[in-house]
Amino acid sequence: MSSSTFIRLALTALLLAACAEEPEGPLTAREGSLLADPTLDFPETIEELGLFPALPRLETTPVEAKLYAPVWPMWSNGLEKLRHVRLPEGTIVDTSASDAWEFPTDTLFFKTFTTTDPSHPEGQRPVETRVVRILADDVEYASYIWDADSLNGQRSDLKLPVEIEVTEDGETFLHAVPNKLQCRKCHESHPTEVLGFAASQLSSETVATLTDEAVFGSPPSVTAVEHDDPEVREVLGYFQGNCVHCHNGSDGPSSSYDLGSEVALEALINKPTEGSASAPGIRVVPGDPEASILYQALVNNSVDDDDDGGGEEAKAMPPVGVQRKDAEMIEKIRLWILGLDPA
Ligand code: HEC
Ligand code: HEC
Repeated sequence: MSSSTFIRLALTALLLAACAEEPEGPLTAREGSLLADPTLDFPETIEELGLFPALPRLETTPVEAKLYAPVWPMWSNGLEKLRHVRLPEGTIVDTSASDAWEFPTDTLFFKTFTTTDPSHPEGQRPVETRVVRILADDVEYASYIWDADSLNGQRSDLKLPVEIEVTEDGETFLHAVPNKLQCRKCHESHPTEVLGFAASQLSSETVATLTDEAVFGSPPSVTAVEHDDPEVREVLGYFQGNCVHCHNGSDGPSSSYDLGSEVALEALINKPTEGSASAPGIRVVPGDPEASILYQALVNNSVDDDDDGGGEEAKAMPPVGVQRKDAEMIEKIRLWILGLDPA
């Protein structure tokens, strides 16, 4: 064989090998979907969101959607959640104000709730997908309810809460998809409408990954919940994930006194309740959970939004978004109060 023939053959072989092994390239959002063009009106179906192109697999998502999770997730009846952010092409998050990151107009956040379902190929069946879109001076909400076959779903009109039957830990109950007023109650009682993608909620590991994915120009600093005692830290983190969107001391419509991790203990221990709609008493009585209004509020069920107060019973906390209580954390909070020194 002449050397030139040999080189030709070798090159052909290399080329063939390269073709066979060539990676398919990153999966990109389907043209016409919301994920491909975040300026489109909210579509009617989950399919048109373009977030889950390989259903029933939920893990396969186009490269435009960046997966993340907050350190202190909100308790949502025990359901699991997948969260994705999609920034408009060529933009990054503005983290110059560390307590109020700013997102470019048309940034999309998706949150998909899943429930345990052994008959689903993934073991987890999607129930609802919530969407927040950043507008110039406002945010826009959408919620999609999945079909029973987990292959598509419809946008809800967000007028009335919609109930979906789910089973978690052997307990069957109705999980409520909130209406728009309820979205607002939580998301607009806080100085920033975006709640879980913030310096107070992302770990430095998550921030590093998202910086590699070009979500940030350089890694912003994060403000972890800190306390020497890990059990107290967990309680403070729980307040961060479940209470601070309202309990932040701002003047938002459903906001109330601050339960941020730096000030929560001082705001609670031996402090009287305030506000016309609250039961009179002490928020946290050291050593006596049952006498503590905070504990009563966590175990109570009176979530009637129209109850404008005057009652003696502590109003259920959180007042929206929970149909099945977080028994495990409530017990940890009980033990924390029990262990506080009354002196
Ligand atoms: C009970 C309070 C509450 C209600 C009601 C609520 N949310 Fe949220 N939402 C949160 C909290 C807290 C987070 C961040 C923590 C987390 O994701 O676990 C969040 C996160 C999100 C996210 C991810 C972006 C972000 O802000 O962190 C989206 C999207 C979202 N919610 C959409 C909605 C929509 C749409 C509705 C109404 C249909 C709604 N939410 C109702 C409290 C609420
Ligand atoms: C959707 C907004 C919202 C969320 C979420 C929320 N709260 Fe509240 N909370 C309020 C408002 C508003 C009041 C005061 C008026 C009232 O009693 O209705 C209040 C009152 C209270 C009170 C009694 C009043 C007082 O002065 O102490 C306690 C205790 C309390 N909240 C604890 C919590 C805890 C703990 C969480 C998280 C597990 C939580 N709340 C989540 C809005 C909220």
